[in-house]
Order: sequence, then structure tokens, then C-alpha cells
Amino acid sequence: MTATAQSLRLESLRKTYTARGREPFEAVKGIDLDIEPGELVALLGPSGCGKTTTLRMIAGLETVTGGKIMIGDRSVGDLPPGKRNVGVGFESYALYPPLTVRENLAYGLKARRAKDATARVDAIAERLEMTELLGLRPANLSSGQKQRVALARALVRNPPVLLLDEPLSHLDAGQRQRVRRELKVLQREFGYTTIVVTHDQLEALSLADRMAVMDAGVIKQFGTPDEVFDAPADRFVADFVGEPSITLLPGTGTGDGVRVGDAGGLRAAVRVAEGRDVVVGLRPQDCHPADGGPGLEGTVLVFEDLLEFGLATVELRGVDTRVVAQVEPGHPVRAGDRITLAAPPERVHVFDPASGERLR
Ligand SMILES: Nc1ncnc2c1ncn2[C@@H]1O[C@H](COP(=O)(O)OP(=O)(O)OP(=O)(O)O)[C@@H](O)[C@H]1O
Ligand SMILES: [Mg+2]
Repeated sequence: MTATAQSLRLESLRKTYTARGREPFEAVKGIDLDIEPGELVALLGPSGCGKTTTLRMIAGLETVTGGKIMIGDRSVGDLPPGKRNVGVGFESYALYPPLTVRENLAYGLKARRAKDATARVDAIAERLEMTELLGLRPANLSSGQKQRVALARALVRNPPVLLLDEPLSHLDAGQRQRVRRELKVLQREFGYTTIVVTHDQLEALSLADRMAVMDAGVIKQFGTPDEVFDAPADRFVADFVGEPSITLLPGTGTGDGVRVGDAGGLRAAVRVAEGRDVVVGLRPQDCHPADGGPGLEGTVLVFEDLLEFGLATVELRGVDTRVVAQVEPGHPVRAGDRITLAAPPERVHVFDPASGERLR
């Protein structure tokens, strides 16, 4: 049985928590998100930025303070969770302790009188590597096993909309990769419109059609992984997405680029008014030892050899912030080496220091 893919739209969605004797707290500050039918969106952001709150509102587990939630052309904000047809895999969403894993998985299906319940449970258990868990009770599962059961329970119903809150966080590295891949295969096969919350950047990159980057109750950028990586909307997104992290340096406009301290300058694809104070962002992946031409001069402090490439931490002349640059194998550098770093103009990100926004 295939879910009919549905669009999911959030319009000015807000949540203010109010508790007696405490100041009201605005956890979600009017977010808009327009998700295509069958799309897989990764929701990223620092702890406490409102990710779980957002998912809980969509699922109907949390009341909405303002705004709208549309699934297809239905506004679901006033419907009880059971009527929204949303599958959820939340850590806090407990399994029924007296039931076996098999019974837990079949529970929702039986309630819906699905005829092929047993076959569907077997199929999903096999694909999530948990056939051997079907006879156990929740109390006897490890946290990674519980997490796979919770994921299976969300998937077995083939929900048109699927919400997963860090579904793989307790799995070991190998299993995490395999289950992640299988999750994407299942998602493509059945077409559930999906939001996955994750703290793992690689997970977001490998799973997502688009990523939503959230900070303090606001969506800062919503785009494909390439868009977010190549053209971060602001300094926060630039800093949050990318591993190793981007280097952010104080700089000054030179018209066709930027100058950084006494270290030199770089050309930028964007015009930066002469003398304008800016923040310059350089990703380690884009920043390499230069073979002549303009660049930033400095001294290598440490070099880390990571086999496929190396990372050089470089102290620039007259600049407090150190730059991290990726060095290709075969061109090792050593601590103490004098070096000039260059980056392609379209890879020199320039931000306004006050607003943090990207110059365009
Ligand atoms: N029931 C509640 N009452 C009051 N404040 C709450 C409640 N639930 C969450 N909050 C607050 O709302 C903010 C957002 O919480 P939320 O759980 O959505 O964050 P999150 O992005 O999921 O974080 P994490 O990555 O740590 O899971 C936090 O500051 C949190 O303390
Ligand atoms: Mg959370």
C-alpha cells in the first residue's frame, strides 16, 4: 500500500509556552515552510531552537499559539492527532510495555483493520534489521533497538506525512549508515512527505532533498544542501552548516573583493564597497595554498593529516582569528611554514557585520 504523497505547509506557525509563575516563552516565532509532496526535509538547528516543538505541533501533540498547518488542502491545526494521518517517530513517544515488539508494530494497523498487518510488520522489521526483536518486550530492548522499533512503528503505517525526531541518534555507526540508507529507500518507495530532525550534518546532507536551518524559533534558510552550503543566507547558517566549520574573519571591502588585516586580500564574486567593514567567511574546503596571485599570507600553526586530505591551521598577519585550510594529499605543509592561502571568488562569502546577512 502506497501513501498518496501530500504537501505540508506551515504558515506563520507560532508557539508560546506559558506556565504559571513563569514568563511566557516564545519557542517558535512564526515560521513558514512549504514542503512538496514526497519531499524529505532535514530540520537542523542548535539545541533549544524549537525543532521538537515544531514537529509536535504538526503531529497535534502540542497546541498551536498562532498560524496554520496545511496537509494537502486540509487545515489540520484543530484536528486531534489521530485524525491528522501523520506518522511520528519521537523518542518520548513510548512503546506499550506489556506488548511485544510485534504487537506494538501491529497495533496501529489492527486499529485500522489492515488485512496484511502481519506481512507488513515482517517486511518492515526485516528492512530495519530487527526481525530478531519482534518477540521481545520494550523493557528488554537497548536504546538503539528501541529507536529502531519506534522508527518501524512510524513507517509501518505508510503515513502520507512522516515526522522523525533524531531517529538514528542511538544507533552505532555502522547500523546508523545502513538504517539511514534504508530509510531513504523506503521514503522514496512510499513517498511519505518527511521531516527529519537531526544534529548530524552528514545525515542531513545524505538524506535531505532540502534542509531547513533554524535558530531561536526562526527558519534562517530553506534550500537544497548545495544552496545552503554554497550560499549561506547569513553568518549563523554559514557557521552552523559545514564540517569543519567555516572561518569567519573581520575584513574590509576593496570594491572587487576584501582585505583581511595585514595578511592581504581576496577577490569576491560579490561587490564590496571600498572601505566597508564586513565579515569574510572561508570554508576549509575552499581555501588552499595559492600558486601565486592574490591571497592571505600567514604561518602554519599545526597540520593535521587526515589521510584523504590535511587540515592546516594558519595564523594570518595582523588577524586574531586563525584560518583552517584543506590541503590536498601530496602537498603536505609543516608547522612554521609560511603560506599564502587563496579561494575562488565565488567561494569567498561576505556578510554584513551588524545584520549578519550575506551580501548579494
Ligand atoms: N513544555 C514546555 N514548557 C516551557 N518551555 C518549553 C517546553 N517545551 C520546550 N520548551 C522550551 O522551548 C524551546 C524549544 O524547545 P524544543 O524542545 O523545541 O527544542 P529543540 O530544538 O528540539 O532542542 P533539542 O535539539 O535540544 O532537542 C526550549 O528553550 C525549551 O526549553
Ligand atoms: Mg528536540
